[in-house]
Amino acid sequence: MPDKPAGMRFKVRNENKNALGGLATRKQITIYFTQAVDAPSMEVLLYLPNHVSGPVPAFAGLNFSGNQSVHPDKGIFMSDRWINNNQKGIQRNRATEASRGSQASRWPVETLLKNGFALVTAYYGDLEPDHADGWQTGIRTSLQQELNLAPDQWGAIGAWAWGMSRIMDYLETEKRINSKQVALTGLSRIGKAAVWAGANDARFALVVSNESGEGGAALARRNYGETIAQLNRSFPHWFSPAYKNYNQAPDKLPVDQHQLLALIAPRPLYVCSAAEDQWADPQGEFLSAVHAGPVYQLYGKTGLGTAQMPAIEKPVGETIGYHIRTGKHDINLYDWQQHLAFAQKHFRKKAKPKT
Ligand code: GCU
Repeated sequence: MPDKPAGMRFKVRNENKNALGGLATRKQITIYFTQAVDAPSMEVLLYLPNHVSGPVPAFAGLNFSGNQSVHPDKGIFMSDRWINNNQKGIQRNRATEASRGSQASRWPVETLLKNGFALVTAYYGDLEPDHADGWQTGIRTSLQQELNLAPDQWGAIGAWAWGMSRIMDYLETEKRINSKQVALTGLSRIGKAAVWAGANDARFALVVSNESGEGGAALARRNYGETIAQLNRSFPHWFSPAYKNYNQAPDKLPVDQHQLLALIAPRPLYVCSAAEDQWADPQGEFLSAVHAGPVYQLYGKTGLGTAQMPAIEKPVGETIGYHIRTGKHDINLYDWQQHLAFAQKHFRKKAKPKT
C-alpha cells in the first residue's frame, strides 16, 4: 500500500451550515493528489451534525454511484465521472438527475447525524472506474510515478482502499472530526477494500465488513459461494495478478481471510452477512471472524466470544461483532443500527471520563 503522494492538497469547494433542514453542515472537498492544475482528484462529501459541538466520531465509506446518490439533498455536487450503467439514474456512463438519492436506503444520513456521528463518503470510481480497463484512467496509471508502483503491482481493490486512507488524511485536518474515532465501512467489493484499508491503516479506529464475501471476510478455502476463480474471471482488475495463481488451488494459499481480519486487531471489527446472500458465504464470513479471535486474545481482548453461528438478527460479539440478517445482498437500516450501536459502545469506552 503506497503512502500519500507528496503533493496532495485539499480544497473545500462548498460549505453549507444549514443543510438537511438545519440538521447538518455539509462540506464538499476536493482532494487533489498532486500539485498539477489537472491533478487526479477525488470528491469528498461530508455531513457534520449541528446539534453537537466539538469533534465528533464519523463513519467513512466509499459509494457505488457518485456522491449525489447518497441523499436527495440537491446541494450535493453531481459526479461527472464514469459510472456503471447498471446503477439507477446513470445514462451513457454518466450521472443524471434521476440518480440523486438513488442509494439513499444504503446511507441513513439523518440517523447517523442524530446520533452525533458525521458521515463522509466519496465515489469509488474517482480512484478507479470499476471495469477491466479502468486502471488506464484511474490512479494506478495517473499516479504511477508519484506512488512508485506499476499498475500491475496492485489492483482496483487496492486503489479504492488507498483512497479511503486519503479521506482519513483529510479528516485529520478537519477540526470538527474526532479522527481517533473514525469507523470505516464498506459493502461487498467496497467492503473487500474497506477490510484491506483497515488492515493497512491503523488510523481507522473501527472497521465494518458488510457482506464483503470472497476476497473480503469470507474464508477462501471453504470453496463455498463465489470462488477465487470466479472472482478473478468476472473481475480481473480487482486483485493483484498473483491471486490468479490460486484460482484452482485455494488450498495452496499461504493465508486465508481470517488472517486478513486479524490484522485489524486489536481495533473493533464488525462483520455481517445476509441470509439470502449465499454468494458471499455467510458461514465463511462468520468462521473468519471466529478464527481472527486468537489474535485479539493476544491483545487481551475477546473477539466474538463464541464459535456458534448466531440466529438471524441476533448480533453477537465483543471486540469483533457479527450478525446475519434476513434478506438479500445489500446494506440497510438494520445493518446500520447494529454498526452504530457497536461503534457507540466501543467509542464510549475510549472516551475520557467526564470530570
Ligand atoms: C459480485 C461479486 C462479489 C462482490 C459483489 C458486489 O457479486 O461476485 O465478489 O462482492 O459483486 O460488489 O456487490
